[in-house]
Amino acid sequence: MRCALRSKNLNVSVLQNTTVKEYMRTIAQEKTNQHNNEPFTVTNISSIVDQINNWKEWFGSIEPYFALKAQNNPVTQRLFHRLGLGYDCASLSEILNVRRTGCSPSKIIVSHPFKSYDCIRDVIIHRMVTVVDSLQECNKVDTIYRQLLTERTLNNMPDIDIPSILIRIKPSEVAISKVEVDMSTKFGVRWDQFEKLAEHCKKLGLNVKGVSFHPGLRANDAEPWTETIAFTRHCFDILLGLGFNPSIIDIGGGYQRREDGNVSSKVIGNSIQQSVKKHFQNHTASPTVVAEPGAFMVSTSQNTAACVTGIRMENPMHPEYHLSAGVFNGFIWHLSDPAYQANVEPLLLKDMTSKVHLKNSKMWGVSCDSMDNLGEVMIQTLEEGDWVYYSGVGDYSNELNTTFNGFSAPAMYYCCEERHYNMLEGLLSDNFNFKKF
Ligand SMILES: Cc1ncc(COP(=O)(O)O)c(C=O)c1O
Repeated sequence: MRCALRSKNLNVSVLQNTTVKEYMRTIAQEKTNQHNNEPFTVTNISSIVDQINNWKEWFGSIEPYFALKAQNNPVTQRLFHRLGLGYDCASLSEILNVRRTGCSPSKIIVSHPFKSYDCIRDVIIHRMVTVVDSLQECNKVDTIYRQLLTERTLNNMPDIDIPSILIRIKPSEVAISKVEVDMSTKFGVRWDQFEKLAEHCKKLGLNVKGVSFHPGLRANDAEPWTETIAFTRHCFDILLGLGFNPSIIDIGGGYQRREDGNVSSKVIGNSIQQSVKKHFQNHTASPTVVAEPGAFMVSTSQNTAACVTGIRMENPMHPEYHLSAGVFNGFIWHLSDPAYQANVEPLLLKDMTSKVHLKNSKMWGVSCDSMDNLGEVMIQTLEEGDWVYYSGVGDYSNELNTTFNGFSAPAMYYCCEERHYNMLEGLLSDNFNFKKF
């Protein structure tokens, strides 16, 4: 059911015979006219639609549940479920974000292995599938389930089901050695502990519906998935032996943000499908395979523009520029991720001749913290009031913004390309006004 909770309060500019860069240039000019140098982000919804279509082509029957943590805004809260896809939510707040826009609880996987009391209550009442990786969390789920059973009898509440859970396992050692960012240190039960945890769930009477894992970030090849899928076969055999009826393998996130990295998502998608076929063909469980892509879906959808607010030219061959955005408002990845710094460089919004002399220049963020350092880049000489933009910053950047030092997060604008106008207006018109640009 779709609910129009708010009146339409957001605009989507429909780009006609023009580019996102042109659209950003217009916004920047308007801001300059108003003496406003605050940063802004443009979300191109067409880019997200393109990635959804790429997923369908490259990953075949593997059902995507978009990891809302990667980009949580009024577009992403609606777009995925209205196109028939699901969500990976990490908290009660994220769950409510998407349910309020009409998403069915059956299209939500609550992926955080440690949840608040309120979150577990909501998961059980709305019959959502959730993830666990410890005996203690299983006990917590069981206790809350039993409280709800008592409350239901006393208060004549609707029926509830036995909680449905996925057990999160760690990726294989080989898998961990093949990713740049290992996500197994915090979450996931060790392989030699899986059976013990499954038995504990059996004892409590929880319904183990399958297995989940997250292979880590920036894989060198498909092995982090394929190696771990091989082990999920073993997990499924254990679950069947204990009398469960497992039906879901959740292969997590970590898919390539852009197609310029180590190995393409197209190759990974193909290898994953082969691996599922190899290990589960003719298996009694015949599982549904789901994934939780975040960055893959949204990384290319956002560009953020910042204004040059100050210049230090002590060495004319090595200028230093201060921008109106920084690592705390717009470019958080610059703090921690060298690969991101290498890929995301500022581009000048205004037109320059092709003969411009590029200089090795230092870019500083807006705050007083010297950690607010956006690296050195080759760029033409900038003047105060010029705007630069960083493309492909759609994953996690806006979600991790702060107001450190009192500087605001980039203002958000939405646009789409004309080729998607009719479809997107049909899907999002309860909340967005579409205006031709
Ligand atoms: C459980 C889980 N699923 C999915 C994701 C999304 O990962 P990515 O954005 O790399 O696809 C994350 C990211 O932290 C995660 O923790």
